[in-house]
Amino acid sequence: MSRDLHDDKILILDFGSQCTQWIARRVREAGVYCEIYPWDISFDRVEKFAARGIILSGGPESTLADETPLAAMEVFNLNIPILGICYGMQTIARQLGGVVENVGKSEFGYAHVRARGHTELLRDIQDSVTEEGHGMLDVWMSHGDRVAELPPGFKLMASTESAPIAGMADESRKIYGLQFHPEVTHTKQGVAIYSRFLHEICGCGSAWTSANIIELTINNVRTQVGKDQVILGLSGGVDSSVVAALLHEAIGDQLTCIFVDNGLLRYQEGDHVMEQFAEHMGVKVIRVDAEARFLAKLEGVSDPELKRKAIGNLFIEIFEEEAARQNDARWLAQGTIYPDVIESAGASTGKAHLIKSHHNVGGLPENMKLDLVEPLRELFKDEVRRVGVELGLPKEMVYRHPFPGPGLGVRILGEVKKEFADTLRLADDIFISELRASDLYDQVSQAFVVFLPVKSVGVTGDGRRYNHVVSLRAVETIDFMTARWAHLPYEFLDHVSRRIMNEIDGISRVVYDISGKPPGTIEWE
Ligand code: XMP
Repeated sequence: MSRDLHDDKILILDFGSQCTQWIARRVREAGVYCEIYPWDISFDRVEKFAARGIILSGGPESTLADETPLAAMEVFNLNIPILGICYGMQTIARQLGGVVENVGKSEFGYAHVRARGHTELLRDIQDSVTEEGHGMLDVWMSHGDRVAELPPGFKLMASTESAPIAGMADESRKIYGLQFHPEVTHTKQGVAIYSRFLHEICGCGSAWTSANIIELTINNVRTQVGKDQVILGLSGGVDSSVVAALLHEAIGDQLTCIFVDNGLLRYQEGDHVMEQFAEHMGVKVIRVDAEARFLAKLEGVSDPELKRKAIGNLFIEIFEEEAARQNDARWLAQGTIYPDVIESAGASTGKAHLIKSHHNVGGLPENMKLDLVEPLRELFKDEVRRVGVELGLPKEMVYRHPFPGPGLGVRILGEVKKEFADTLRLADDIFISELRASDLYDQVSQAFVVFLPVKSVGVTGDGRRYNHVVSLRAVETIDFMTARWAHLPYEFLDHVSRRIMNEIDGISRVVYDISGKPPGTIEWE
């Protein structure tokens, strides 16, 4: 690597849009490192970051409001390219002497944009050409305000019927504004527009690749931990698995993973984790069979929050016991990823619009006195996955649906019992294997079975059955904050339901959950 991976970097000032993380992902996909900061970070920090370009995100506010979020004025004098998107464009207009007005009603959805004037940003980028020879772009718009007058020095770059100034540029200062969202996939030329801004206008290379990320991270971890011992709570989930693979590559035997089988895992999960990490990769893994302890703790507990707490606390207790046995360990590795970092920064400043109410089981034991190694801190989930594949983890493992920390504990409604967990594991395995067999697994974001501790009458041959009910759950979502139930084909659901009822004793009825989030949640508890 001739240049450091972080040499070419972009700063994204976040004005609170749902799309900000998409912007960052587009930038990263283009091979350029970027970080997201709240719009009001001090100019000093902006300057120190030494970006090659700045992107001002969209946001939910109106630039016409009294106390409207603004970028620090000095940002416009940094002499580096700036791209404002939606609210970001409006704030540029307002701050640099243009006029913004309210449209009366919001515009939301597809739009045809006519590219006007020849600017470096949109030159030769178009989806179609009109009979008069105008280049047209198919884009996604979502706004309530619009720019009514260009600031001095700007020229018109794009327009639609409802937003005559849908794009503007001051090419002498390399400041650009787009009213539409190039980061969403509905904007067909979005990738081309980002690439133009990043590579040609800002002059960034494309060094941010999985191979380079791995090389850099391995070097960093080696420098950070030296010859010390490191421990890692391996859950079988994507993030901790990728950390294990990375650290194994970086420090080999200095890594000890602790895998706690709490009896609330998916079908044969413990064996798969051991097979993959201990047998195939030669990672040192201590498997702790703690099913009995967890079930004992959960006996008689049926409130979801109390169950979560019981599971989380016992996990920490066991993890601490095992960690104490690794006398020399000085470091605790964690699978923290970039969205967690952004979220906790938002939470600590009180600015996050959405704060997750649950965290992975295994929060930090306070008295462990271990320092943290967090090799995925800069990565988005899709980057973590690509790194995992590049490190040789099987695709099925890396692209698995998320699994909640408390596991089947929150998928068995009410009190958890071993026989319920065993039955649920079998049903879940049938559903998941059939999704894979029908190529539907990757089309849904998360799928699983929920065990309902109620009984229902059924009939087999000439016998009456009186057994439990399970519900299939499958959702499609981008951010897991909202979700729609997956419209799986009826024939498929029929096949899964038959298999579950024919093959598993103790289940006499299968239902399909058709609740969206909101108002439902993805998990049932
Ligand atoms: P909900 O049920 O809140 O779930 O719509 C959203 C996403 O979070 C996962 N989830 C959890 N993950 N610990 C976790 O690590 C938890 O306690 C927990 N509860 C829900 C859920 O599986 C979904 O992906």
